[in-house]
Amino acid sequence: MANNIKYFIGNWKMFGTPKSISILNKINKFVKFDKKFNKRYKTIITPPYTLIENFAKTFKNQKIIIGAQNCYHKDNFGANTGSISAFMIKSLNAKYVIVGHSDNRKEGDTNSIIKEKIDNVLNNGMSVIFCIGENKKDKLRKRTFKVLREQITKALDKRFKFKNILVAYEPIWSIGSGKIPKTKDLLKTTLFIKKTLNDFFKTKFSIPVLYGGSVDSSNIDQFKNLTVLDGFLIGGASKSNKKFIDIIKNYYR
Ligand code: PGA
Repeated sequence: MANNIKYFIGNWKMFGTPKSISILNKINKFVKFDKKFNKRYKTIITPPYTLIENFAKTFKNQKIIIGAQNCYHKDNFGANTGSISAFMIKSLNAKYVIVGHSDNRKEGDTNSIIKEKIDNVLNNGMSVIFCIGENKKDKLRKRTFKVLREQITKALDKRFKFKNILVAYEPIWSIGSGKIPKTKDLLKTTLFIKKTLNDFFKTKFSIPVLYGGSVDSSNIDQFKNLTVLDGFLIGGASKSNKKFIDIIKNYYR
């Protein structure tokens, strides 16, 4: 197993009330006592907007880092009913923002809207978890690489601060379906993503590439040998402290 830092990121989606802090308390307790491995991973939880302030305050000097799941494509304040800007998220002390999740692409986020969002997150001094992924039709028609290349090159810009960007590869057909890619396919795709990022943006360091889609404590074993992966974006299983902790435990077991 490689020794570089791995990310375990929980995406709660539309889940949680103030009482759900008990889930984070348990995860925090685990990571606090997990002295053997905890220098090797980062735990980030992205609750809904409504919980960010409270969670970020509670876990301020702890190992759990709080992020947001999305932001509006215009920054600061504006006449945009129901929207939340990166500037507003930053004021709650969130450190990361997920951008480009397929849930939001489905609701109209284009590559150029995603680019604006990434720009806003970075300008506010936060880091971006940039999601990309092909749908089932693209996969069957062997268009995965074409789609990924387009998503990467149209939403990222050479002038971005790449040190603050993580990429999460989330094939849409795997999200919430219980299906995960074959190891050899995931290896090829991860290497393709890393090469594309390198070719287009020529960063001097390697941008972390995570996998997301139906990761849970029973299949995490299958990702262990894929040392090219820099971590995981976990949806459903991150709403349970037991499942989330078991994913980390089983990964390092
Ligand atoms: P899942 O979701 O783990 O429930 O498949 C992942 C995601 O949508 O980020």
